[in-house]
Amino acid sequence: MAYCVGEYYERVEDYDLQYQNQSERDLPFWKGLIEEYHPHRVLELACGSGRLGLPLARCFPDLIIEGLDSAPQMLAAYRRKLESEAPEVQRRVILHEGDMRDYHLPACGNFDFIFLPFNSAAHLYTIEDQLSAFRCTYDHLAPGGRFIVDVQLPDLDYLSAALNRPTQLYLEDEISDPASASTLLIYSSRRYDPCEQLEHMVWIHERFSEQGENERCLTQLDLHMYFPRELQLLFLASGFAVEAIYGDYER
Ligand SMILES: C[S@@+](CC[C@H](N)C(=O)[O-])C[C@H]1O[C@@H](n2cnc3c(N)ncnc32)[C@H](O)[C@@H]1O
Repeated sequence: MAYCVGEYYERVEDYDLQYQNQSERDLPFWKGLIEEYHPHRVLELACGSGRLGLPLARCFPDLIIEGLDSAPQMLAAYRRKLESEAPEVQRRVILHEGDMRDYHLPACGNFDFIFLPFNSAAHLYTIEDQLSAFRCTYDHLAPGGRFIVDVQLPDLDYLSAALNRPTQLYLEDEISDPASASTLLIYSSRRYDPCEQLEHMVWIHERFSEQGENERCLTQLDLHMYFPRELQLLFLASGFAVEAIYGDYER
């Protein structure tokens, strides 16, 4: 067996497999908002490997969609996927490596829709980082522009089982990967620190190939848990007015 210790977002193939069904849940929500607000220039913060950006670019031919992410591996995967798109889609997608806590893009002040999807705001760990990301985003919006943040609501039962101690190791998923003729098993354990509102996660991704080879990789990921009022305060403290709060992707 081969072992490795790595960064969660370096393992893009595992990420893409693990969340291959997520777009069924959240993509219609983002499409609906774009239909409603008719933006021309869109920025996805923490865009990852293009799970949302690519289908949105395909679906809305007038949209210029920019993406910002701090993980070069995620952006490299996004660029590889983009290469197999039609030239007219490729032309409208612009990617930037950067940190959402402090960024400055050439189109600063011209975005009419900026979004931070799929709980990626959980990677803003301190109040300073959160305010800095929100204020920076405010500056990047055109007058009347919208900033939409999708966070996971804290599940108290789920967190109480992890209060100040690691949970058991759960088998989260078992996924067969025809591309590499292997099966991926995903395990996780979590510990919740209620003072810091931080969920410390340990992930194990284990691949079994059809040839009988086996690789196990350990990664860690910290997630900040937002309580709803906290998020509203964050918007208000960084200059925004709050237009709507939705409880789920069906609004
Ligand atoms: C949950 S993934 C979301 C990716 C993509 N938006 C999606 O919905 O599939 C979180 C992403 O946040 C990125 N990220 C984490 N911290 C960041 C930071 N400070 N600035 C920019 N990107 C960051 C990671 O590299 C990762 O791609």
